[in-house]
Amino acid sequence: MPDFFEFQVRPRVQYRQGLVDELSLELAQRAERRICIVADAGVQRAGLVDRVVQGIRSSAEVVAIFCDVPANSSVWAVERGAALAQQAKADLILAIGGGSPIDTAKCIRMLLSHGGRLRDYEGYNTLTQPLVPMIAIPTTAGTGSEVTPFAVIRDEDAQLKMTFASPFLTPDLAILDPEMTSGLPAHLAAATGMDALTHAIEAFASREANPISDALALQAIDIISNNLRAATHTPADLQARGQMLIGSAIAGMAFASAMLGVVHAVAHAVGGTFPLHHGLLNSILLPHGMRFNCSTVPNRYSRIARAMGVNAGGRAEEDVIEDGVQAVCALAADCGLILRLRELEVPQDALPALAEVALTDAAIFTNPRDASAEDLVALLRTAW
Ligand SMILES: [Fe+2]
Repeated sequence: MPDFFEFQVRPRVQYRQGLVDELSLELAQRAERRICIVADAGVQRAGLVDRVVQGIRSSAEVVAIFCDVPANSSVWAVERGAALAQQAKADLILAIGGGSPIDTAKCIRMLLSHGGRLRDYEGYNTLTQPLVPMIAIPTTAGTGSEVTPFAVIRDEDAQLKMTFASPFLTPDLAILDPEMTSGLPAHLAAATGMDALTHAIEAFASREANPISDALALQAIDIISNNLRAATHTPADLQARGQMLIGSAIAGMAFASAMLGVVHAVAHAVGGTFPLHHGLLNSILLPHGMRFNCSTVPNRYSRIARAMGVNAGGRAEEDVIEDGVQAVCALAADCGLILRLRELEVPQDALPALAEVALTDAAIFTNPRDASAEDLVALLRTAW
């Protein structure tokens, strides 16, 4: 455990099937009356924006709907959305979607509250004042962005991802309604779910892991490992889809405090270079990251294995840990996910450069084991 840790208990979290249809009850209790909705085109096409608007009824006015958020959100999208919200005099931001619309909405409220350009706020703790209130309604069970103080936005000019981190960015309310994820196709349910599992496992093994994040991370591993198969293969199983939303939010709370590790560092490097799904990359890299770390903190990985359902009774610790790694591999395989980087057409000769990029990623600093460029090339080769 680190000498110092910080844990923020911030967003209210509500869960129920069909909860979005009763948004008017929540809004009637709030002072804000002018809502700006932030979503993306896919969410809008799926009818989810209309459904939320219907749930608002006459409790408040929807003064702007911004659905031009790209798959990896951009500076343009944030600044365009903020201008729209400002013109419409919005006093509440309501995000509907996966990580990209929710992160965009977080940054829109930053500009709406304090003005300026997005680049002015890049980095950690650049905010000193609360922001315009925000409600987040996730439509994927993976990023946990609805409960975290982080946003990642792509700077399309510099071809870089910018990170924003501040307690003020955390949404005020996260509404977890499994009906909002029921249209998510199997391959995305699987990949986003493996992202959530990676958040929980990396948070539990992190140098910054603390007693509060540990409790959350283990519960998230348990929930996700028991529900991801059903949530993937049976979209109509709202019980399993709901459990994944809960598991993903809990994993988000864990890594918001404990941070991440080598798997995310490498996934960020690969995903920043090639347009590949973040959750899928984590899923491929996770077993290799676990094997890289487990000799440094074996007790952590044997507890992860037990949370994955491995029976530890009287067995050698290294066998239990390896069974935990195998349980992660089996989960990804059972959910139909690709298991090797070569199948994504990542060229083998790109691996050394990717390792160099990963070494500069913030997630590497909380990994339990120090990693060199050679270590990361070796990890990438085993995942290739
Ligand atoms: Fe992630």
